[in-house]
Formats: sequence, C-alpha cells, structure tokens
Amino acid sequence: MKIDIPKETKEKRLVWSLTRSVLESDSFKYKRFGGKRKSHWTKFESLIHLFGFFLKIIGLYQKGNENAKNISIKKINLTFSDLPDSFDGYRILHLTDLHLDCIAGIEAIISENIAGLQYDICVITGDYREKTFGSFRQILPPLRKIVQNIHARDGIYSVLGNHDTFLMVNHLENMGITVLTNEVISVQRNGEKLFFTGIDDPNYYYTDQTLCSLEKKLDGFKIALVHSPELYDIAGKNQYRLYLCGHTHGGQICLPGGRPVITHTFNAKHQYKGLWHYNGMTGYTSCGCSTSGIPVRFNCEGEVTLFTLMKENRTN
Ligand SMILES: [Fe+2]
Repeated sequence: MKIDIPKETKEKRLVWSLTRSVLESDSFKYKRFGGKRKSHWTKFESLIHLFGFFLKIIGLYQKGNENAKNISIKKINLTFSDLPDSFDGYRILHLTDLHLDCIAGIEAIISENIAGLQYDICVITGDYREKTFGSFRQILPPLRKIVQNIHARDGIYSVLGNHDTFLMVNHLENMGITVLTNEVISVQRNGEKLFFTGIDDPNYYYTDQTLCSLEKKLDGFKIALVHSPELYDIAGKNQYRLYLCGHTHGGQICLPGGRPVITHTFNAKHQYKGLWHYNGMTGYTSCGCSTSGIPVRFNCEGEVTLFTLMKENRTN
C-alpha cells in the first residue's frame, strides 16, 4: 500500500524525525513537567524481574502468564450531543500496548479477538515492542499478521509509545498503518468531519510541537490519540471531545478488586484505567493487549476495545 504524503507534511515529518532521534539517544525522558533519567526505568525493570523470580518460587508465574493471554473484547457506546449526524453509529477499534515481543503468540490472540468485529476505523496508541531501546525488527512479522486481520474502510492510524522508535515509522506505513507524529487527519461523511489528532508519546518525548498540535484550531468534532493519559487536561481545555490512550496497562499487576500497585502516571492518577471525563471531554484509558516488564497480569485483564459513537437524543 502506497500512502501519498503532502510536501508540507514530509518536511514537518523530517523535523520530527530529527528531533525524536536526538531525544531517543539522550539518557533523559522529556516529560511535560521536566526531564527524568531513563535509568529509573532500568532500575524498575530489575525490580520487576526480581518479582517475576519470586512469582516462580511461589508458583504463581504460570497463572499470571495465562491471565496475560486472556484478552477480552470491550464494547462501549459513547454518546455526544455534538456528534455530526453522519457519524452517528461510527465505530472505532482501539488497540494499544501490543508489546509483540513480550508474550509469544500474542499476535494470534489479538487477531482472534478482532476477527468478526465490525468497525469503520482502527486506531493504535503505541508501544509495539517490549524494550524502550534496541532492535525492533522482531515485532514486524507478528504485527503484519495482525494488520492482515484488520479491515477498516477508513484505515489504520497510530501514534508511537515510549517503547517505540522513530525508525519504526516507515515499516509501519509500508504495512498500511498511517503514523501520526503530532499530525491531524480528518474523516469525512456528507461534508461533515471527524478530526483525529495523533500525538507523539508525551511520556518520554514531549516537545513544544506536542502542545502546538493540540492547540491547533480545528472546526469540528475532535478526537485525540495519545499513548498515555497525561495530556488529558490540555486536550480538554482545547475542546477535544474524545481522548483515547493506553500506556498504564491498567496497572497490569493489581491487588484483588483491580487496585493497581503502580500506574506509571504522574499527573493522571484518576485517568489510569477505563472511562473518565474532564471538562466535557470523554476519555478512555485501555488496559492494552499485552504486557511489559514480565508477561504476567493479575486482577487486570488485557483488552481490545470497540467504541460506537452515538448522537445524543437520536430518535431511532
Ligand atoms: Fe505499554
């Protein structure tokens, strides 16, 4: 599949790539509220591997791994008073945190879950690989299998997560996934539009361009695609109506009742999982399809999510 990209977008993409390449090679995470050393994640990974060893000793590792392979399909209807009439019933398939090299065979499980679902567009909110650095080629064959099972008439759009590299973009686009790197696309029906703004990961790679993209004036119903929930307040203040994200894995390892031990969010403690609302905007933080760190889940199911947008007060 060949995607035509306008010259202006190509130039912006080049600037983004250069910036991302510099940030990726640095030892800091560039966050909205300041830099943080990436070594924190390395320490966290060591701790979580120790925890995995502990789970093996007490005999719970296998159970946790089975839990991680048990993905559910969540079907959610979302109602909006200002949804353009032409998009009443519009369906969005949302996948996130695929981490395709963390659980062997996860691509078959994801494909099985999405088979038979009907949707108009598919959005993927990042984190294709397990590590935050190093090789990414191992995720391409399983991703290709998933893409072969996605049938969306308006296409597949994605943003990158903090585990992804700018080097993936061409490979994803050659597969038929359009990557939005602080870019906007619109879907049209009968002269009415839905805007999708795709933001590069703000957890490691927040830049001025992130803010500019969300503040861009767009006349229509706006949907933000972001890897993590941490820009919810900026999007809400800029009249976004829907915000779709992942990153937190819903906690991945939770206490009974679903209470997470760690949420991996700094400023979005109330947006770490499921449906939430802010300033008239509806948000959804998916638990994601896979895992990272160790391939286990407890008290927190992985998911693929199917949203149906509905016009409030429709008569039939
Ligand atoms: Fe993730």
